[in-house]
Amino acid sequence: MRGKKLSIKPLNVEEIEREEVQTVLNEYFQDPLLEEIERNTRGFLNVCWKVKLKKGNFFLRRYRVGIKKDRIVFEHSLIQHLNKKNFTKIPKLLQTLNNKTFVERFVGQRKLFYALFEYAEGEDRYVWDRPNCSDVELKNAAKTLAEYHAFIYEFKPKYKEGPLIDKLILQYRRKIMKLKPRRRSMFETLLFNHKDKILKEINLVYELLKKSSYNALPRIVIHGDFHLGNMKFINDEVTALFDFDWARIETRAYDVAMALLYNCSKWEERRNPIDLHKLTLFLDAYEEKLKNLKMSWWRLSGKECTLIPILIRAANLYLIDWACDDFYNKKVNDKEYYRYLKHNLNIIEWFNE
Ligand SMILES: Nc1ncnc2c1ncn2[C@@H]1O[C@H](COP(=O)(O)OP(=O)(O)O)[C@@H](O)[C@H]1O
Ligand SMILES: [Mg+2]
Repeated sequence: MRGKKLSIKPLNVEEIEREEVQTVLNEYFQDPLLEEIERNTRGFLNVCWKVKLKKGNFFLRRYRVGIKKDRIVFEHSLIQHLNKKNFTKIPKLLQTLNNKTFVERFVGQRKLFYALFEYAEGEDRYVWDRPNCSDVELKNAAKTLAEYHAFIYEFKPKYKEGPLIDKLILQYRRKIMKLKPRRRSMFETLLFNHKDKILKEINLVYELLKKSSYNALPRIVIHGDFHLGNMKFINDEVTALFDFDWARIETRAYDVAMALLYNCSKWEERRNPIDLHKLTLFLDAYEEKLKNLKMSWWRLSGKECTLIPILIRAANLYLIDWACDDFYNKKVNDKEYYRYLKHNLNIIEWFNE
């Protein structure tokens, strides 16, 4: 048949994303006038955009594929609890026109979840594996953790409790024992050369936690991923805290230990992989903030303090498990994951010296 050729120009990536964002925004506002979208490239798991509308800036998150709805409901109940407590560093969730905090969409067979947040101003100054902040910034991060713990301790989630870290490390042991080298890589060479060392560390940490009746320590919904890359700064102040992907019921002491491991690490320093000066600064600022919030009773107990070193070791094992999971299930950069594992091994060695 002759006639005019239909010209159907395929949409480019930006146009497809714009359509996706527009569709989701229509669930939140009557006729939202989308001015600009900007893809955020800092996230590891979720796809995020800064969204500019006439009425202001927002932050749209498309959750990682495969996330369960229960998980989002849990994370949102946590955020809403903190918003109600006026913890202003946690960006608020917006409600859809149907009074929901998230949008579900089917794209083909896949179910996708989205949530819109207020846009948190501030500077993304650090990433988790380069915590080279100033002492003042570190103290402010510690105070932010204290605030989080102060505002969260009453929160009772409707969410099933998983195993605590003392039991989780046994799962890591089973996983590591089953691993087989798959390809020639720096990561795997390092891992298999030090497999016994890691297994020994797991056994030791397990025994130490067992002896100390670990599960009698106070539990809360921990942040679980409290590093400087999950915060924004203006001057030296923390202005925003996000990323509740690893939030779960755990002991408060473990959250503090994980934060110490992240934020007081000296990467590339084989002999001294933890900065003890920073560690003291962090703990002092954390305790001081709780005192200032008139919550002295919620400062770390003697028992929690004694367990912090063992919990830093446990947190280090958590990160080894995370790196192995990523390495074996995702396409990741060998050199980068080698660097992570090297640091974890330095920490094991340091504790055993
Ligand atoms: N409400 C928000 N406003 C502005 N920026 C945000 C907001 N939430 C997250 N971000 C930015 O997005 C990045 C990724 O978000 P995050 O929750 O850490 O995702 P991921 O789990 O993928 O790491 C953060 O480092 C931060 O720069
Ligand atoms: Mg993050």
